[in-house]
Amino acid sequence: MKRQDMKRQDMKQDLTLQVNGIGYDISVEPRKTLADALRDECGLTGTHLGCEHGVCGACTILADGAPIRACLMFAVQAEDMALRTVEGLAQGGQWSPLQKAFVEHHGLQCGYCTPGFLMLATGALEDNPDISDADLRDVLSSNLCRCTGYENIVKAVRAAAADMGASS
Ligand code: FES
Ligand code: FES
Repeated sequence: MKRQDMKRQDMKQDLTLQVNGIGYDISVEPRKTLADALRDECGLTGTHLGCEHGVCGACTILADGAPIRACLMFAVQAEDMALRTVEGLAQGGQWSPLQKAFVEHHGLQCGYCTPGFLMLATGALEDNPDISDADLRDVLSSNLCRCTGYENIVKAVRAAAADMGASS
């Protein structure tokens, strides 16, 4: 092993990430972002990367119930957090009401932004199932989509909220 590689190896830090209720023991350099660690170390590639500097929202996940940009946090900062990614939304082979609503209401086209919107909206509906249209649009405005024009994303989240309210 080259001396440079050995130095990099020495700088790695062992930690456990709790993602979707599963512990992932990983070893990363302190500069590695949470988004990269989820994708490269945990194999959870549903978290997408667009801008990698906090603008597009494609990397949105939930950390202790709150939506965060996983490209703006280092993996080592997330060690004690309960993380949720798009891979954890479906339960028992069944899509979540929100995932179903995205399909039924055409809330996606290419799908690249979709994991981020799903996690953002999941956090918003869990926080306030009766969220107003204005507040929902405000929340969703933090993520970018180049395909849909947003209206169908809003419709899908509204439909999911109604479905979740009806089944609770
Ligand atoms: S990739 Fe994180 S906000 Fe764009
Ligand atoms: S569906 Fe293509 S970027 Fe949103």
